[in-house]
Amino acid sequence: MKLFITGATGYIGGEVLHQFLQKLPHFWVTALHRLPEEAKLLKDSYGDRVHPIFGSLDNSGTLEREAREADIIINAACYNHAPSVEVFKKVLSERRTKALFIQISGTGILVDSTEPDGYRPDKVYSDVDDIDEINSLPDSQPHRPAEKVALSIEDSNPEFVKTAVVCPPLIFGIGQGCGNKLSVQIPWLLRAVVEVGYNFTVYDGMTRWDHAHIYDVGTLFMAIVEKYLQGEPFRSGHAGYYFVEDGSDFYWKDLAAKVSDSLYSRGLIRSREIKKLNPAQVREIFHLPAMYWGSNCRSKADAGKLLGWRPIKSDDAHFWADVDESLDYMVSRGIL
Ligand SMILES: NC(=O)c1ccc[n+]([C@@H]2O[C@H](COP(=O)([O-])OP(=O)(O)OC[C@H]3O[C@@H](n4cnc5c(N)ncnc54)[C@H](OP(=O)(O)O)[C@@H]3O)[C@@H](O)[C@H]2O)c1
Repeated sequence: MKLFITGATGYIGGEVLHQFLQKLPHFWVTALHRLPEEAKLLKDSYGDRVHPIFGSLDNSGTLEREAREADIIINAACYNHAPSVEVFKKVLSERRTKALFIQISGTGILVDSTEPDGYRPDKVYSDVDDIDEINSLPDSQPHRPAEKVALSIEDSNPEFVKTAVVCPPLIFGIGQGCGNKLSVQIPWLLRAVVEVGYNFTVYDGMTRWDHAHIYDVGTLFMAIVEKYLQGEPFRSGHAGYYFVEDGSDFYWKDLAAKVSDSLYSRGLIRSREIKKLNPAQVREIFHLPAMYWGSNCRSKADAGKLLGWRPIKSDDAHFWADVDESLDYMVSRGIL
C-alpha cells in the first residue's frame, strides 16, 4: 500500500510520518518536498522507506499523479492552500479504488476576536455536538476555504473515498520528525520577546486557547488511519472533523508570565515587564498577528475519543514544562 504525504519535513507532517513508519512499516511512502536539501534529509533519515518527490502544492500535475497512486493521502503542509485541496478533490472524485484523505486544519477557524467587545470566552466547540455549526462557519474565518473543500471531498465519491480533517489548537512539544521540530505560537513568542526586550499581552490577556502536544496530534492521525485500514466505521466526510485537546486550556496572560519568567531567569531579557498592547501595536512592535496571541479559541475533542484515541501528553503539566523545554531546545541550537 502507498502513502503520499505533504509537509513531511515540517513539524506536524514530520511527526505524522515518524509515527506512520513506526506503525505501518510495509507502506510505500512518497513525500513532497520543495527544497533540494529536504530530499537528502528524508533519505538520510528514512533510507529507502521514503521516496522524496520534488514539487510544491502549486504543482497540480505532481499532486494529481501522486494522489492517483496513493491509498492514503495526508496533506499536512498547509491549512490555507485551497487550490491544492481542489486538486486532491478532483483526483479523488474520479477514484474507482478505495482511498483515505486527511487534511490538516487549525482551530484558528474558531477564533472570536482580538477586540474585547467581540470576545466569546465561554464558547466551546465540540467536533461531535457542534459539527453542523462547524460546517457552517463563514468563509471569512481563517483556514475555512481550504477546509470547506476538504470536507466536501467524500460527497463527491462516497463509495470509494473517506476523508477526515484534523484541527489542532496551539501545538506544543518537540516533534519527532526529521526536519522542523518546533511549533509556532510559543517559539515565535519567545523569539519576539527576546528581540523586543519585553513581553506583551493583547489588552489584559484574559483570552483562552486550548493546547495539544505534538505527540497526541500524531497519534490522532494514526488512530484515523488505523480505523480506516481495519475497515471499521468512523466519522468521515462532513462529520469527519477531529479536534485535538485533553480538556485543559490556558489564559494568554499566564503564558506571557511564564515566558517572561523563563527568559528572565536565563538572562535573555532584562525585565519581566509585560505591556498591555492593542492588536495594531502587537503587529507594529512584535511583528506578530494578534489573533494567535489574543483571542478566544476553544475546542472539545469528542470525535477522537469515539475512535478510541486518548491524548497522553496534552495536559497542563506537559504544557507548562514545554515553555522551558522549547526555550532550551532553541538556545542549544542557536535559534534564540
Ligand atoms: N504548529 C501549530 O501549532 C499548528 C497548529 C494547527 C495548524 N497548523 C498549520 O498546519 C500546517 C503545518 O504546520 P507545521 O507546524 O507542520 O508547519 P511547518 O513546520 O512549517 O511545516 C510545513 C511543511 O510543509 C511544507 N510546505 C509548506 N507550504 C508548502 C507548499 N506550498 N508546497 C510544498 N510544501 C509546503 C514546508 O516545506 P518547506 O520546508 O519547503 O517550507 C514544511 O515541510 C501549517 O499550515 C500550520 O499553520 C500549525
